[in-house]
Amino acid sequence: MRTQIGIVGAGPAGLLLAHLLHLQGIESVIVEVRSRHYIEHRIRAGVLEQGTVDMMIETGVGERLKREGLVHHGIHMRFNRREHRINLYELTGGKAITIYAQQEVVKDLISARLAAGGQIFFEAKDVSVDGFNGTTPSMRFSADGKTHELTCDFIAGCDGFRGVCRPSIPAGVLTFFDRTYPFAWLGILVQAPPSSDELIYAHSERGFALLSMRSTEIGRLYMQVPADADLKDYPDDRVWRELHARFAIDGDWKLTEGPVLQKNLAPMRSFVAEPMQYGRLYLAGDAAHIVPATGAKGLNLAAADVRLLSQALADYYSSGGTRLLEQYSQRCLRRVWKAQRFSWWMTTMLHRFDTDNAFDQRRQVAELDYLTGSQAAMKSLAENYVGLPWD
Ligand code: DHB
Repeated sequence: MRTQIGIVGAGPAGLLLAHLLHLQGIESVIVEVRSRHYIEHRIRAGVLEQGTVDMMIETGVGERLKREGLVHHGIHMRFNRREHRINLYELTGGKAITIYAQQEVVKDLISARLAAGGQIFFEAKDVSVDGFNGTTPSMRFSADGKTHELTCDFIAGCDGFRGVCRPSIPAGVLTFFDRTYPFAWLGILVQAPPSSDELIYAHSERGFALLSMRSTEIGRLYMQVPADADLKDYPDDRVWRELHARFAIDGDWKLTEGPVLQKNLAPMRSFVAEPMQYGRLYLAGDAAHIVPATGAKGLNLAAADVRLLSQALADYYSSGGTRLLEQYSQRCLRRVWKAQRFSWWMTTMLHRFDTDNAFDQRRQVAELDYLTGSQAAMKSLAENYVGLPWD
């Protein structure tokens, strides 16, 4: 089997890349270790930056997003039992975020890909990548009871943090930068209308909590828990008690409870691998970098990576030029590091660290007080939150 671009991973990065390449007349094949059902139902973040939304709409995969996505013009910060709104829309000259779950993006991209005759191998086993340091990269895998060898011009490693692509690059080539945090997020999906029309980021002495949503009927709530927390220690009543305490404000606001449809833990870490390329293997999305969830940058960064990669590949196939391919890593990393900084800043401003003392807690509150009282500070948050300009 032969194709132009072999893509490992059918998450948002791999699927969007295949879609963008197709629009440029470039062929690709996607190989995914999970089942279609699994990736279409895997619960992840749900906040799309303005640029991600625009890209989906402009490239013809935004119909359902336009219909079902919830456009938000602001977010709320809660601390010291008070709430403060940040008007993203006004502060950014008319940009917004859209609530639309990652698995819905994945469903839309899979159906567009299959409708266009694209090939996706699900439930692939023993996936390996080879030859990318020369001119004939190849991918091997088994699927449908057969072993396949796919030769291609380039390989895109869109297979996430635990994928095979990054570790296939010889030791010593990449430099890793990382930071772990002493907490994780416990997330619940709730069958109840969200208690706020917009997201609420809450700082409290008991730790961070976030109110988000998936639709006008389904809420999504998160709370900070220790990094080694075990779900069995968090029955629903304990989670609700804790959420009520962390969201408490003066006034008559109330957190509405509902049946918990799903509960999960998400670790928090910052990670970057540099460069994002070796030979003819290009890394994109979580395969190259992880951000802590606060600020919901992960999917949006993946979309920004594959946008640049598709442009570089289109330039290569149309003119034979390699300049954009050579610049791929450097151009991605400028955005990646700004998103790393923003996610780290949001995380450290809002979470409780065991090593913090009373000074640090006062300092955090002062930072939130400054943020919500300064047009300049709110504007800085807003432009990062809705997504920095592409280039
Ligand atoms: C969501 C996740 C985030 O990390 C965030 O900052 C906001 C919302 C979400 O899953 O809805």
